[in-house]
Amino acid sequence: MTDHALQRPAALTITPRDRRFGGGSSPDRLWHGGRVEATAIYNALSTTFPKGEAYFVESVRAFRDGAPPQLAEDIKAFTTQEVIHSREHDRFNQRAQASGYDLTLLDKQVDFRLAIGRDRPPIVNLAATMALEHFTAILAHQLLADPRHLEGADAEAAELWRWHAAEEIEHKGVAFDTWLHATRHWSRWKRWKVKSLIMLLMTRNFLVDRTAGALELMRQDGVTGMKAWGKLLHYLWVRPGMFRKIGGEWARYFLPGFHPWNTDDRHLLAAYEATTQGGAEPAKKVRRAA
Ligand SMILES: [Fe+2]
Ligand SMILES: [Fe+2]
Repeated sequence: MTDHALQRPAALTITPRDRRFGGGSSPDRLWHGGRVEATAIYNALSTTFPKGEAYFVESVRAFRDGAPPQLAEDIKAFTTQEVIHSREHDRFNQRAQASGYDLTLLDKQVDFRLAIGRDRPPIVNLAATMALEHFTAILAHQLLADPRHLEGADAEAAELWRWHAAEEIEHKGVAFDTWLHATRHWSRWKRWKVKSLIMLLMTRNFLVDRTAGALELMRQDGVTGMKAWGKLLHYLWVRPGMFRKIGGEWARYFLPGFHPWNTDDRHLLAAYEATTQGGAEPAKKVRRAA
């Protein structure tokens, strides 16, 4: 196999929306409906984004040379979106710190994971990015599909998460298509094996690190031990049960013919555009990354 046709929807446009959040008054420390466990898991996720998404950008851009024109264009748009996400989550994290949370331990764990990647070949980092981009895309799908996930949240914070979710869906195929291009001379078996093993590893790290991060933030709110575990596990796995609900889509990743756009969720993008408060900036207004 020397090349492949992109499996993204032909009509898809990846549009960076240069939104800014948090300009008004600071939200409460427990911005997610006053709930310790809900605030903790979203804050724990946000802590990973500035450095994590910079790593995604680096991993994908390592393979942009020689990419076919549509893929090269998608990589540019992906990069621009992720750079803006990093900026806005950095600001979000600063607000969490200003409200009294100490994110040092969570940040150190992100550094620890990223340091491992530096010793690995670029293709392994691309596979890790592709796995984590699948994670963000299926979390994003849930977030937009079921309003219960952001029920009670501060309006502007909720808007930030919905904006990020929409763009994650929009660019969900880019890391995967970059991988298909980069590994076009590999056998199907080798591709499947590397893709699957790295997904298993990333899943373990994701679940362990985000759970530990959320528990650490809950500790800072005075909730510890079995009570903390009970609240957090109930929130993640029972109601609203985000982690349980992404299980089916997560498993699809291991199917031999998997592609992120085999699940076409553009209706969620359309619904987001129809209800967002800020509206989308026209693409031409956004300076695209080189
Ligand atoms: Fe992102
Ligand atoms: Fe992303």
